[in-house]
Amino acid sequence: MNHDDQSVSWTALIRITHWLVALCVLVNFFNDTGFWHRVIGYTCLALVCLRVVNGLFISKVSSSKLYVPRVSNLKAHFKELLHKRGPAYAGHNPFGQWAVYLMWLLIALLALSGWVSRTDALWGEDWPVDLHKALSDVLQGIVILHLLAIALMSKLQKQNLVKAMIVSKE
Ligand code: HEM
Ligand code: HEM
Repeated sequence: MNHDDQSVSWTALIRITHWLVALCVLVNFFNDTGFWHRVIGYTCLALVCLRVVNGLFISKVSSSKLYVPRVSNLKAHFKELLHKRGPAYAGHNPFGQWAVYLMWLLIALLALSGWVSRTDALWGEDWPVDLHKALSDVLQGIVILHLLAIALMSKLQKQNLVKAMIVSKE
């Protein structure tokens, strides 16, 4: 697992896809029907796919790589937080990594439920749209937690994580 005491540094691909994904999700929360809603939603999924493929197969940079945090990693990190310690990780901390997987999954399920709601077979059915709305509400909740977690971790780690998502250290 990427755990050390250096401060975090993200690749250009991560920084660019992050802000584009955030923009697509925010626009779609408010602009919630029509052609552009669909174009922006599918673009968002394409950006997530690009990031995942890069993290799994292409990038050699440790903060890009994806890992599966285990229960023991989560427990250890929880203990660190209880002691008001937030050691810097080269990538996401164990809770953050799971939160990121959840956001990516929700974006994929939003695209799938949006597409299904417009297929001929299910046209006029309420449940795909209801499911789509529920997934969007869950994503909204996670985004709020995401912002709170970043504020908390920036304070504990005494580093500006938002700035690190904008400019590179190198
Ligand atoms: C709808 C809005 C947003 C979504 C869906 C979202 C989603 C994500 C995702 C998926 C990642 C992981 C990036 C990766 O590994 O490629 C991430 C990381 C991050 N996001 Fe967001 N984000 C949103 C808004 C924001 C905003 C408004 C801020 C700043 C105020 C922000 C700050 C960050 C930071 C600092 C990280 C790195 C976290 C870390 O150090 O582990 N995000 N976000
Ligand atoms: C980031 C991704 C997305 C988010 C956050 C999102 C969010 C939303 C929200 C909040 C609504 C309003 C639901 C309601 O109040 O009933 C909605 C409606 C809708 N979305 Fe999405 N969406 C996303 C992607 C997509 C995609 C990729 C499609 C592809 C077809 C899509 C198709 C639809 C359709 C057809 C409706 C309208 C349902 C109706 O006619 O009332 N969405 N979306």
